[in-house]
Amino acid sequence: TPRVVVLISGNGSNLQALIDAQSYGELGGEIVAVISNKVDAYGLKRARDAEIDAVALPHNEYDSREAFDGALIKVIERHEPDLIVLAGFMRILTPLFVHRFHGRLLNIHPSLLPAYQGLNTHARVLADGGEEHGVSVHFVTEELDGGPVVMQAALKIHPGDSQEDVIEKIHAREHLIYPIAVRWFLEGRLQLGPKGATLDGMALPPQGMR
Ligand code: GAR
Repeated sequence: TPRVVVLISGNGSNLQALIDAQSYGELGGEIVAVISNKVDAYGLKRARDAEIDAVALPHNEYDSREAFDGALIKVIERHEPDLIVLAGFMRILTPLFVHRFHGRLLNIHPSLLPAYQGLNTHARVLADGGEEHGVSVHFVTEELDGGPVVMQAALKIHPGDSQEDVIEKIHAREHLIYPIAVRWFLEGRLQLGPKGATLDGMALPPQGMR
């Protein structure tokens, strides 16, 4: 069975969606460890409740990004994963880390990339009066939030929608598409090639599957 390590920093609702998919036999692999850079992340409890190895690796105990990432690499490699899934992991990763796991690193980002890279995407979309928003699953490369997109789900923003309304819609879509993307990867259908992401050997468009 393909092995998955999930990195989190907080609530872990996306982790839960992956755990649920696994319990229905729909993930195509096994989550062998969950690692959080925050000791109090609720997602660690979700992992323990599912009898998954839950590891807290507080980044503030390391002198530098490089030192933290070095420790993180060691913990991850101990679990011999086929795929590393970033699920609300709120730390920028060093090039060393990204290279080490090149082609085996997926992230989910709450925007229709390449729009709204970075943080606070919902607030920025609302402030801009945007009518369309969404989520993207992408391969992680050295370019922050810039790696090839695998899959997107869009949503409409209606007049009067609060940030909470938007976050709820975002989460619903994330929980739907992330397990699918992970499954495609673990089935060997999804790959990071020299020219970008491919599905069943065919190049995906810049917005991935929608
Ligand atoms: C998700 O909405 C995810 O897209 C976002 O954090 C949230 C984590 O929620 N990730 C980023 O902003 C990455 N820069 P969760 O902990 O409930 O899965």
